[in-house]
Amino acid sequence: MNFKGFKYNSKGRLCCEHLELKEIAESYGTPLYVYSGESIEEAYNDLNHSLTSTNTEINFALKANSTIGILSLLSNLGAGADIVSGGELKRALHANIHPSKIVFSGVGKTTEEIKLAINNDIKQINAESYPEIENIIKIAKSLKKVAPVAIRVNPNIRVKTHEKIATGSNDTKFGLPIDEAVKLYKKISNEKFIDTMGIAIHIGSQIFDMKEFKLAYKNILSTANLLRKEGLSVPNLDLGGGLGVNYQNASISFKEYGSTIKEVFKNYDYNLSIEPGRSLVANSGILITKIIYLKKTESKNFLIVDGAMNDFIRPTLYNASHKIEPLVMSYEKIKKYDIVGPICETGDYFAKDLELNPPKEGQYLAIFSTGAYGSVMSSSYNSRPPAGEVLVYKGKIHQLRKQETIDYQIQKEILPSF
Ligand code: LLP
Repeated sequence: MNFKGFKYNSKGRLCCEHLELKEIAESYGTPLYVYSGESIEEAYNDLNHSLTSTNTEINFALKANSTIGILSLLSNLGAGADIVSGGELKRALHANIHPSKIVFSGVGKTTEEIKLAINNDIKQINAESYPEIENIIKIAKSLKKVAPVAIRVNPNIRVKTHEKIATGSNDTKFGLPIDEAVKLYKKISNEKFIDTMGIAIHIGSQIFDMKEFKLAYKNILSTANLLRKEGLSVPNLDLGGGLGVNYQNASISFKEYGSTIKEVFKNYDYNLSIEPGRSLVANSGILITKIIYLKKTESKNFLIVDGAMNDFIRPTLYNASHKIEPLVMSYEKIKKYDIVGPICETGDYFAKDLELNPPKEGQYLAIFSTGAYGSVMSSSYNSRPPAGEVLVYKGKIHQLRKQETIDYQIQKEILPSF
C-alpha cells in the first residue's frame, strides 16, 4: 500500500500520521473524512519538484476539495487556485489565497460572479465563449476596470477516461475550437477594457497517458506561437489539470508529468500554470464508516455501513473502485462482501464482491483515496446530513467541519401557511 499518510502500526491498527484512526472515529463520530496534512504536503512538494526550472504556477482546482482548512494548508505551501464559481472564489479568498494567484474557469460564469472576480482583482478569467466575452466587456466597462482575460481552447482531443470527465473534444461544452479562439483573441487584443492574458486548456480528468497531455500542450503552444507571430501579447499558458491517480495502488506519475511539460515548453518563455485537483489531495483523505449490520442472503454477504452515496458518490456515479480496509486488522479467513449504505437505491454501494477478513458489526472501515471529489460532491439525499471532516497534521487533529445536523437543515426551510 502506498497511501502515505495512512499506515498500519505494529498492533495492526490503521493510523494517520501515527494517530490511531479508531480513536479519531470514536471521538468525532462516523461517517468521517480524515485527511493527512503531511501527505498533502508531500504530494504538493513532489509535483512542485517535478516542475523545477519551468516557471510553472500550481493553481489547485478547488472543485476537488474546497474545505477551507485544506485550502489554507495548500495556500501555506504556495498554491494558487483554479475556481469555477463565485462560491469557490469566496472560499479561496477566505483561505488567504492571494487574488493574484486565482484563475476563474467554467462555461457559465454569471454577471455577479464576473463582477466579483473583477472587483477582487483576480489573476485571470478563462473565457469559454463569445457571449461570455461580450458580457465580460460590458461588466468591465460598467466597473471602469480592465478585465484580465484568457481564452480556453478546445483542442479536439478525445482522451481515454470516463466519458463524464473528458472535456477536450469538440462535442463537449468546453472552450472554443482553435481557429475561432485565434480570431477572438485577435479581436479582444484591441479591446480597451480587456487585458489579454493568454490561452488555457483542460482536456479532462483521470489522464494517465502522457502522450495525451503532450499532444494538447503542443496544440496550445503552436496556437500561442501563431498569435505571438502576429505581434499579440500572449504571456500565460494555462495547461489545466487532469493528472490521473491510480486508486488501487495510489501511484501518481508526477515525474513523468513534469518531464512532459519541460519537454514541450523548454525553448519558450511563456509563464505556465497548471490546475491539478485530484493528484494533490485524493490519496491524502479517507472516509471512515462504521458497520451497522452484517446481512447474509443466499447469494451475498452485505456489510451495511453508516456512510452512503450521499457522502461519497464516486462508486455510484463513475463505477469507481476505491480500496477499502478495516481500521483494525483481523486475521480470519477472507470472505467476499458487498459494502453498501443505508440509502434506498441499489446504486448505493462502495464496493461489490470485495475480499475482506470478516469484520464485525460496530467495526470501522476506511475507504481510501477519498480526499478528492469526496466531501465536495456530498449531498443530503435521504435527509442524511453529509459527513464531518478532520485534518491530522504534524501530530495534531484539527476539526475542519462538523457533520451538519438535520435540525439545522430543517431550520433553513420555510413551512408555508396554506
Ligand atoms: N481545471 C478544470 C477546468 C477542470 O474542469 C478540472 C476538473 C480540473 C482543472 C481538475 O482536474 P483534476 O486534476 O482533478 O483531474 N468529479 C469527477 C472529476 C470531475 C473533474 C472536473 N474538472 C471525479 O470524481 O472523478
